[in-house]
Amino acid sequence: MRRPGLIFAGVAAWLAGMTELGPVAWPPAPIRTERLLLRASEPRDRPAFVELLASPEVNTYLGGPRPRADLERELPAVPEQWPGSFVVELDGAMIGHVLLRRPPERQRPAAVGRADLGYLFLPEAWGSGYATEACAAALDWFDRALPGEPTVLFTQSANVASMRLAAKLGFAEVERFEAWGAEQWLGLRSPTP
Ligand SMILES: CC(C)(COP(=O)(O)OP(=O)(O)OC[C@H]1O[C@@H](n2cnc3c(N)ncnc32)[C@H](O)[C@@H]1OP(=O)(O)O)[C@@H](O)C(=O)NCCC(=O)NCCS
Repeated sequence: MRRPGLIFAGVAAWLAGMTELGPVAWPPAPIRTERLLLRASEPRDRPAFVELLASPEVNTYLGGPRPRADLERELPAVPEQWPGSFVVELDGAMIGHVLLRRPPERQRPAAVGRADLGYLFLPEAWGSGYATEACAAALDWFDRALPGEPTVLFTQSANVASMRLAAKLGFAEVERFEAWGAEQWLGLRSPTP
């Protein structure tokens, strides 16, 4: 027989996942931009998630790559399926992941309780403006889903491409601080009315 505590923990985790961002309808209708499609993740995206998380280039400023064998074993059949997690598709194939989430463990006062934006794209998709196009569409979705809410963004200041992207998306510097052996940058974006 399953213990009631375990069942409760499972339900609580499910509810936390459901409500982390707030009262948003999920999954949303797929979002089309000029060149891209943003949608919730599906089983066919699993190999691209393995590539993203195992890539040394993608993870240079994110704590390093994960061993491919571990990912193959541990990733769920449909990775990263939660409200605010967008797969970015180009011509029918996943090229990146854009995340809007409200992590409970944030320590910096300006970020506590706020949703933050994250992004990872496969190296072959860099340098074409896809990340800017996809993140702008995800932020536009957020502004309509949760009107009036600012968003924050953390990145290493040495991550030049990420710093440029943050500026293009309208994030303004709040502070820089040392963590995990590097200078971190925290930016804030006011919602578009
Ligand atoms: C951060 C990251 C998403 C940026 O990707 P990116 O492709 O450089 O970002 P953009 O989509 O803004 O593309 C900008 C580049 O495309 C070029 N570009 C080409 N065609 C373009 C177009 N039609 N529209 C806009 N830009 C275009 C721009 O000139 C610019 O090139 P430059 O950097 O040489 O000046 C990518 O480097 C990445 O995935 N890094 C690993 C993950 C990571 O570190 N994430 C940060 C976590 S906080």
